[in-house]
Amino acid sequence: MNDTTTPTTAIPISNPNAPTQNDALNSTQDNTSLFSSSLISAEVSSRLPEGYSIRPLRRSDYNGGFLPTLKVLTTVGDISEEAFTTRYDFMATRNDTYYILVVCDENNTVVGTGAVVVERKFIHNLGMVGHIEDIAVAKNQQGKKLGLRIIQALDYVAEKVGCYKSILDCSEANEGFYVKCGFKRAGLEMAHYYEQSPSTS
Ligand SMILES: CC(C)(COP(=O)(O)OP(=O)(O)OC[C@H]1O[C@@H](n2cnc3c(N)ncnc32)[C@H](O)[C@@H]1OP(=O)(O)O)[C@@H](O)C(=O)NCCC(=O)NCCS
Repeated sequence: MNDTTTPTTAIPISNPNAPTQNDALNSTQDNTSLFSSSLISAEVSSRLPEGYSIRPLRRSDYNGGFLPTLKVLTTVGDISEEAFTTRYDFMATRNDTYYILVVCDENNTVVGTGAVVVERKFIHNLGMVGHIEDIAVAKNQQGKKLGLRIIQALDYVAEKVGCYKSILDCSEANEGFYVKCGFKRAGLEMAHYYEQSPSTS
């Protein structure tokens, strides 16, 4: 892996330079990327529709179409700017683990998003696995191959950072989409839901 492809080193959680809760306030104008832009595939970028772009999530995306786009996937909730920023900063201090990217249209509005979360294992000789999560394309933008480009871009990130595979869960209705993206059915998802509602801490 050369310099242009090496992901930025994760900031230790105890790092005194890590963003604090106070920094989080009034900081959603910050255009810093969640992870290194060098992990965005130039080839995938070049295959987007004219005027569209793909990039890492930014703190400033609180003010754009990111959260509305996620609503096509599931319940998002009423997330305050402070809560968004706190969660963003949590992920930013672990920027070798959380890779969330967005697709923007020609007006720079976020119209698609997806994430890969990198898990470090002991098995498979300390193998790393990418968990693809939260793939969403705004309703009026579906059918333009943006979903495909998001998956290709996440595959690129996962491979570049050293994952030996990526896996995901989906509904039967979306199986065909993921097959077109190069995935194949493997195993069975099981879930155990707990009674408490998801926490924002
Ligand atoms: C599923 C989703 C991400 C697909 O995004 P999209 O941008 O509309 O899809 P694309 O245009 O990139 O489609 C790529 C290919 O997959 C096919 N495809 C898309 N959705 C499909 C589906 N549900 N079933 C079968 N094939 C599908 C397309 O027809 C296209 O095929 P082609 O290459 O032969 O033309 C999008 O519809 C979406 O956000 N849905 C709501 C949220 C969701 O369900 N997310 C996935 C959670 S697991």
